[in-house]
Formats: sequence, structure tokens, C-alpha cells
Amino acid sequence: MKRILVLGSINIDHSYELERIVRPGETVASRAYRTAWGGKGLNQAIALAKAGAETALAAQLSAGDRPGLEKFCAPFGLDLSKVRGLDCPSGHAIIQVESSGQNSIIIAAGANGRMEDETISAVDDYGPGDILLLQNEVDRMPEIIRRGKEQGMTVALNPSPYTSEMLDWPLELVDIFILNETEGEYISGSAQVEEMLGALAAKFPAAGIVLTLGAQGSIYRRGEEEHRAAALKVEAVDTTAAGDTYTGYFLAGLLQGKNVKEAMVLATRAAAITVSRPGAAGSIPLAKEVENW
Ligand code: RIB
Repeated sequence: MKRILVLGSINIDHSYELERIVRPGETVASRAYRTAWGGKGLNQAIALAKAGAETALAAQLSAGDRPGLEKFCAPFGLDLSKVRGLDCPSGHAIIQVESSGQNSIIIAAGANGRMEDETISAVDDYGPGDILLLQNEVDRMPEIIRRGKEQGMTVALNPSPYTSEMLDWPLELVDIFILNETEGEYISGSAQVEEMLGALAAKFPAAGIVLTLGAQGSIYRRGEEEHRAAALKVEAVDTTAAGDTYTGYFLAGLLQGKNVKEAMVLATRAAAITVSRPGAAGSIPLAKEVENW
């Protein structure tokens, strides 16, 4: 079976539950506070592993936080042998979650912002047919994209969070984009969904493009091929990691032989469960939960 390497971030999430997200100049007391594992790289790797895909994570964190991460990940078989402990703080995120379930996130890179050669060289153990899944929470991204492609890997990119320098990355080497409306607008230059899809498909004619639209579901486009999956209605408690869950389950579905539409439906179900629970990595469901939901 094909393997997947996620090369990305690990964060310690500090989440604050609030009536509504804080406005500029305001001080607000939180109703609840918790710390938990997060980071788009770790969340997506966990989603893949929980979905049953053979997944390894290449990432960096503070050496002192490693034992805690190993304990947390032990139940679902995510390969952490390419995660390296450094002598610096782990990345972290400050997350406001309001009663509608919407969030607002600030990240501080820590170890994610100083990617070392040894961590990036994890890519060298992979080859044609394997997938390299990337986000935008670590540095040296253009080099990492090129390195994956040189190995013959299928490069999947979740361009999140969007930063303007991304437009200078070798995006033409990306085989699969999984992005939301905001990221799609920045990359395509168009705010209207159909125009955005048209512009992305014209810009990256060989790539599969998955556009996630929250309550409007998701759309896949590759050349003339198009598939749509409707959203599922759930009571949102916390939307953190919903996109990460979708990304992981979508790619796991493809790796497990599902067609694109089936993988979209699977990913939509998994993400719906994630938003009904608080937290990031810990809120991602197991494949069994998705099947029985
Ligand atoms: O996508 C959710 C994640 O974004 C959080 O876990 C946080 O760490 C940030 O990376």
C-alpha cells in the first residue's frame, strides 16, 4: 500500500471558550481554558492515521514535549520516528472559540519555524506513488515541495494559513490542493466560488483542487472533472481542526481505493464529527466512529 508522509507543524494549543471572539481594545474573561495537542501538520497526520492510512509525521518540537506527544499518539499508530526534539520551545497556538463554534487562531512558530536538514531529509525515504502532505506552518516550504517532487512523490498542499509569499512557491509542482474559500480567493484572485474554481483550474490544469466551503459543502475540480459533496448539519461546538480532519480523511480515502466523490463524502462525515467536539487533534474521530455515525 502507498504510504503518506506529513511534513508539518506540531503546536500546543491554548484554547479559550468565549461568548464571542474578542474585539480590538477589549478585555474578555474566558468561560473555559484548556491546552491540547494541535498544529495543522499533527492534526492532519492524526486524521490520516485514525482513518487507517499508513502515516508518518516529520516535524519538530521541544525535546521536553516529545514524551507527552508519544503518549498521546500511541493509541492510533501514527509513526513519530521522524519527529525530532529540539532545544527550543514547541510551536503554540492561542485559540479563541466563541459559542457559535467559530474560532480565531494566532500561531507562534517555535520549533516549527526552524526546520533542520535532518527533518526535511525524511522525504528521501519515500518514492513514486507515496504522498507528501504539506501545510504552511513550517519554514523552507519551496525547498520541501521541490524535494518531494524530486522523489517522485504526489505532493498534496493545504495552503493554510495563507501568506503572500506562497504565490512565489513552486505551486505548479503541487498535484492536489485542499483549500478553503479564503485561501482559494488569495491564490486565484477571485472571491466568487465558480470563478475561483475556474481560475484555479486554469492556473493548475494538472492538479486536483478540493475547495471546502463550510456549510456549502465541498467541490472537487480537475480539468473538466467535477464532483460536489453536500455539507452535513451538525451543532458546531468547536470548528478547530475541521479542515485538518477533512484533509486527512480525504487523502486516506483515496489511498484506500475510494473514488474522489466517495473520499469527499467520507471526509465530510469525519469533519462533521470533529466540529461537534471541543479541541483540535483530540476531537478527530476514529474510522469506526465515522462508519457508525
Ligand atoms: O487547524 C487547526 C490548527 O491550527 C490548530 O490546532 C492550531 O494549532 C493551528 O495550527
